[in-house]
Amino acid sequence: MSVAKPLPHDAAHLHVTGAARYVDDTPTPRGTLHLAFGLSQVAKGRITSMDLDPVRKSPGVVAVLTAKDLPFDNDVSPSIHDEPLLSDGTVNYVGQPVFLVVATSHRAARIAARKANIDYSEETPLLTLDEALAADSRFEEGPRIYEKGDTASAIAAAPRVVEGTFELGGQEHFYLEGQAALALPQEDGGMLVNSSTQHPTEIQHKVAEAIGLPMHAVRVETRRMGGGFGGKESQGNALAVACAVAARLTGKACKMRYDRDDDMVITGKRHAFRISYRAGFDDEGRLLGVDFTHLVNCGWAQDLSLPVADRAMLHADNAYAIPAIRIESHRLKTNLQSATAYRGFGGPQGMVGIERVMDHIAHDLGLDPVELRRRNYYAAPGTATGDNTTPYGMEVSDFELHEMTAQLLESADYAARKAEIAYWNAGQTHLRRGLAFSPVKFGISFTLTHLNQAGALVHVYQDGSVHLNHGGTEMGQGLFQKVAQVAASRFGIPLEKVKITATDTAKVPNTSATAASSGSDLNGMAVKAACDTLRARMAEHLAGLHQAKPADVVFDNGMVRIGDGIEISFDEAAKLCYEGRISLSSTGFYKTPSLAWDRIKGQGRPFFYFAYGAALTEVVVDRLTGENRILRADILHDAGASLNPALDIGQVEGGYVQGAGWLTTEELVWDGKGSLRTHAPSTYKIPACSDRPDVFNVALYDGQNREETIYRSKAVGEPPFMLGISAWLALSDAVASFGTTYPALNAPATAEEIWHAARRVSDGV
Ligand code: MTE
Ligand code: MOS
Repeated sequence: MSVAKPLPHDAAHLHVTGAARYVDDTPTPRGTLHLAFGLSQVAKGRITSMDLDPVRKSPGVVAVLTAKDLPFDNDVSPSIHDEPLLSDGTVNYVGQPVFLVVATSHRAARIAARKANIDYSEETPLLTLDEALAADSRFEEGPRIYEKGDTASAIAAAPRVVEGTFELGGQEHFYLEGQAALALPQEDGGMLVNSSTQHPTEIQHKVAEAIGLPMHAVRVETRRMGGGFGGKESQGNALAVACAVAARLTGKACKMRYDRDDDMVITGKRHAFRISYRAGFDDEGRLLGVDFTHLVNCGWAQDLSLPVADRAMLHADNAYAIPAIRIESHRLKTNLQSATAYRGFGGPQGMVGIERVMDHIAHDLGLDPVELRRRNYYAAPGTATGDNTTPYGMEVSDFELHEMTAQLLESADYAARKAEIAYWNAGQTHLRRGLAFSPVKFGISFTLTHLNQAGALVHVYQDGSVHLNHGGTEMGQGLFQKVAQVAASRFGIPLEKVKITATDTAKVPNTSATAASSGSDLNGMAVKAACDTLRARMAEHLAGLHQAKPADVVFDNGMVRIGDGIEISFDEAAKLCYEGRISLSSTGFYKTPSLAWDRIKGQGRPFFYFAYGAALTEVVVDRLTGENRILRADILHDAGASLNPALDIGQVEGGYVQGAGWLTTEELVWDGKGSLRTHAPSTYKIPACSDRPDVFNVALYDGQNREETIYRSKAVGEPPFMLGISAWLALSDAVASFGTTYPALNAPATAEEIWHAARRVSDGV
């Protein structure tokens, strides 16, 4: 069976040889036109005059469009129609698309886009959380509040209390392939769109609205993305719609890709948060009540901010059973890029909140931080003596972290290393090492319940080869390979017989974004359903040919056994079924069971199950410069019964490094006028290969999903991102050793932040 095998990514050989095709590599028809947006230079105001003559006269320009030239809907929002493709006269952030240039080359379009003379009547932008809060500028009326128990009384009665406030920065996705789309006009107004998107159905929907046709007239195809990380759930809409509108107008194929700087300036990023906390606990470190306030910087348009902010609230407990907890979430509207989905979808921010509280309490009590965490963990299955429900009332019935923590501490030699580090630190003046553990409990399912569905289309050809299609998209995570392994396993055939094909809205309709880590859970099950339908049809026919029972037809090892004694190849079986006029094509469908969620009340079962992980990170910091590095990371991650351990370990390694990057070096800086100053790798520092931990031990937990998922596997795309929190906590641990006060680090803990914190701690403040 090919499931559970550590096979390489199906396109690995294409990736490394440069032969993998991305949108920009797609051969285009002669005369293809290229697009670029002209961008707002002010953060808030009205356009009073716009002279586009110099743009029109620029070499190679074919057309220049503004909002009034758009024939139908001027909207690319994934949620509430608050995001025009081109400015409707008001501008809301520096970088907002104002006009669209259509030219004969990518370069000609970009050069022309800079030649406009635009006058604005400028207004004072709201850039910071404080400014937005003072102006009561928000996306939902008042804050959203989830509460379990009586938090205020619990904290008031607690023997000890810690409190604090810290900043948590946003994050640029920095997918290697930037946003890109290509629209090819078809006969009778139809449109074929190639898009680098996690959400082909949404592209189809928005393009159809923009060209005034039903969805059936638009077909969207996505072979792969060079990374999405949530940044291609909604942010590709603008490019695809622009291409389709220009293609409809000119009758020519139109292509658009953002240059890296434009990509960073135009598109949304991870939501920055400010988190305030007040936590009451007893002398043994047991939590009694925790109160969080989340201030969320959503940027100018709503996009996916409400579910992102909800998910942050849903992860405010992380791995801990907290008797009383209150979370107040303010979704603030500012004049910055519209913050969007990013790996973890708000979960990481919520989780950093409670891990910060744990760090602070351990420091306050002088208690081992791992021991403190274990005392507060949810109960393991079958051991709960009291309430083991989350703040939103969901029973935690699959808690694996007691066992995982024990295994990790053992394999990483925690106790001995902790002692050795303390000894080493005592002999140092300016260098200090730090060690920290953090657990992950991440809820799997879309919190918008109806999105938890998927479809598939499988054909068996008469030569026994299989064509596989489903609604999921491939962005490097290995989804296509895993799902192909499922198909091969259902038919008992070698993987080479299964052809992985591009996601296509004409093959599988009404799909959800490939997001919330649920790609393989949903599409794996849909493909299984399609394969099983075909298998049943084939079994029935083959059994009939040999007076056997369908139940006695077995598909295994490239062969089909029919009752006792008869064995034919799968290819032969396919041919016989074809000749017997059996339909060898089937759809499959799956919807996640057991979900029930009321997001207004904050009650129910939003998740089918939880994925778990545990990480231990060791760092070293230099207080003279703030320089630091990760020396070692040990990880034990729960992917259930892994569909493909090689791909899953890749997800864990990449997720950890991306998470650590978010909390350490990746700093977004806007100037006082709302202009993003970190819009290229020269000023925005993502982890490089050299920033990986020198020692990096990653293992998968030997377990299986307690819920009935595809081959009992677990989703693995996002959860490991949050293992990176241990790197931030390790920096806090190292800095704490310079004195006795609590370091109170902000995130990202850049070298500057660490330098300042080390000064404060040394000075005893
Ligand atoms: N891994 C790679 N290589 N590239 C990506 O863009 N996106 C992440 C994660 N892992 C991503 C990735 C995000 S944000 C999600 S939601 C999941 O993959 C989506 O894929 P899955 O549902 O198939 O896990
Ligand atoms: Mo992932 S943030 O759910 O695309």
